[in-house]
Amino acid sequence: MNLNSITPLTKLINPLFETHNICVYMKREELNHPQIQGNKWHKLKLNLVAAQAQQKTTLLTFGGAYSNHIAATAVAAQESGFKSIGIIRGEELAKHPETWSHTLKQAAQHGMQLQFITRTAYRQKSTPNTLKTLQSTYPNTYILPEGGSNSLAVQGFEPLMQQLEIQCPNWTHLLSAVGTGATLAGLIKYAPFHDDNPRTILGFPALKQGEYLKPHIQKWIGETSAHSWQLLTEYHCGGYAKTSEPLLQQMQVFEQTFNIALDPIYTAKMVYGFYDQLKQGRFKPGSKVILLHTGGLQGRDYQG
Ligand SMILES: Cc1ncc(COP(=O)(O)O)c(C=O)c1O
Repeated sequence: MNLNSITPLTKLINPLFETHNICVYMKREELNHPQIQGNKWHKLKLNLVAAQAQQKTTLLTFGGAYSNHIAATAVAAQESGFKSIGIIRGEELAKHPETWSHTLKQAAQHGMQLQFITRTAYRQKSTPNTLKTLQSTYPNTYILPEGGSNSLAVQGFEPLMQQLEIQCPNWTHLLSAVGTGATLAGLIKYAPFHDDNPRTILGFPALKQGEYLKPHIQKWIGETSAHSWQLLTEYHCGGYAKTSEPLLQQMQVFEQTFNIALDPIYTAKMVYGFYDQLKQGRFKPGSKVILLHTGGLQGRDYQG
């Protein structure tokens, strides 16, 4: 297993950025692994190592119908010789495989056993009782939380931050889409600190009312961060897996301008927020802004 591939940092050349006198780059983590790609790979890799060390035979995890994490876990399990089980929100999907998202179909194709449960049952997914029942129903199973977000997932971003330090040692801003916040926590926790070059890490939650994620992120970071970081919660475009016309337009313009594909659920919302923040004067002349491509391209069939 190659845990840490090197991905390009692509400079985005555009008159708009020249006018603002800033440099903008995209860190191409959608290219970090042929199938698992993006933040999913960083979040899964150390968990796979742990599951192997514990001699587990199966990976079990949770997600909704459009969860990139479900698809990624199925592929990772198959590649690494584990069986996989996905506990999916929405019991109505069990009887209607014809309505499954591309993500669910892909997970099933990679051998994941899908188990559909009610939304009420799903809300209980991380209670000690539920976890105990799952462990006894499926012995020798490594359980990953929703989104794969745990402390090993956060730790998985350390090599990425070291790589960025080499590729662009004087970056000033790093922008990422946010779901559970574990990815952002990893970026904040492992961003090297320079006295003379203060850094800001900005997270763009893809779901409504993202403020609630702050204490979770803080807990994962584990201590007061030396970096300033912020959640910009107004770019969810209607909520998780929802899109808006301005978002889709911005996504199309970006893709055509830079020839880089985005996904509408996460990375496009970060890019949309970036342009708005640029308009609002967030980035001072001389800033070096990195947009993190967190992958998610397998969900591009989503039609809104
Ligand atoms: C493509 C993509 N970007 C960003 C995120 C957000 O990651 P996190 O849950 O660690 O905040 C996800 C999460 O599912 C994702 O699939």
